[in-house]
Amino acid sequence: MIFKSFAARSETVAPVNFKTETGTDLEKARHLLEAGEVVAIPTETVYGLAANALDPDAVVKIYEAKQRPRFNPLIIHLPDWNAVARYAVDIPPEAELLARHFTPGPLTFLLKKSDLIPDLVTAGSPKVAVRIPSHPLTHELLTKLDFPLSAPSANPFGYVSPTTAQHVFESLGGSIPYILDGGPCQVGVESTIVDFENGQIIVRRKGGTSLQAMTEVLGKKPILKTAVEDHPVAPGQLKSHYATTTPLHVGDIAELAVEFRNKKICIIAFGNNAAGLNAFKVFQLSESGNTEEAAKNLFSTMRQADRCGAEVIIAGWLPETGLGPAINDRLRRARTQG
Ligand code: TXA
Ligand code: MG
Repeated sequence: MIFKSFAARSETVAPVNFKTETGTDLEKARHLLEAGEVVAIPTETVYGLAANALDPDAVVKIYEAKQRPRFNPLIIHLPDWNAVARYAVDIPPEAELLARHFTPGPLTFLLKKSDLIPDLVTAGSPKVAVRIPSHPLTHELLTKLDFPLSAPSANPFGYVSPTTAQHVFESLGGSIPYILDGGPCQVGVESTIVDFENGQIIVRRKGGTSLQAMTEVLGKKPILKTAVEDHPVAPGQLKSHYATTTPLHVGDIAELAVEFRNKKICIIAFGNNAAGLNAFKVFQLSESGNTEEAAKNLFSTMRQADRCGAEVIIAGWLPETGLGPAINDRLRRARTQG
């Protein structure tokens, strides 16, 4: 793949210091975005760090606030599927089919970009990632703007994604002027990313739209290509993404409890998988073993676990059904290697 370098724009500009405000003022968010500023916005998956996708000077502020490498492209957010035709060309019929079933919602489409999209947004790729979020506040904001919003997850590069306005404030307070507060995110893991190549439907990132649901609509299973080797451009695919500061180990939870018995253990439990185990703290993803509930709680729980005073966090794998695969993917990338 061809990814141009953007050496002309400095990688090291320090974020401007702002007095960050949090609120539900759509007009304020709109004015800031129209003035080329960065605003954190709620979506049903995670909070995003948004700017005018058509203005490279605004987009560059996202990379600066997030301290994200410029070779990682950004998703553009639009109010509805009708708006996609301005920014993408040659939309395949399978994309239309998936869009009918899953938009607005946690599914992102990789489509051939139109000339309106700056290279900085796609990191030089001929494809642009497009998403129609379902969060009502952000939907309303998008309908008021005459440009799409580029938005990565609103976390510093490499850390757990934010699912509340407070999470955003904790890590980006001081670097951005405004956080639009839309309450806790209802899905809790990032969107599924789907790509279309030579008639094939390829999932590049597991996420809030399950493979099961997509398979039912398509009548066939999409191909999974989420490995680092296959797709080095997607930071969500970097192995150390979503990392906690406290070491996190994932595997057979009972064996891990024995292995770390001499440490202060925090367990991230699912259903009854931690029953009978000794721990300093236990946080539950879903008492009833529901993967959607677990996804919604995942990133908040990882943050709580990270700061509960434990020396090590342990978790078991979730079942590979519903949003289980997307959660396991986040745990796999967040866990301590070696
Ligand atoms: O749910 C979500 O998708 C959230 C909310 C805020 O919309 N956004 C999100 O953005 O997770 P981010 O930047 O954290 O992850 C987007 C992923 C990255 O792995 C990026 O590399 C990939 O999408 N991506 C974006 N544009 C792409 C492109 N043109 N080609 C290939 N991959 C792309
Ligand atoms: Mg991210």
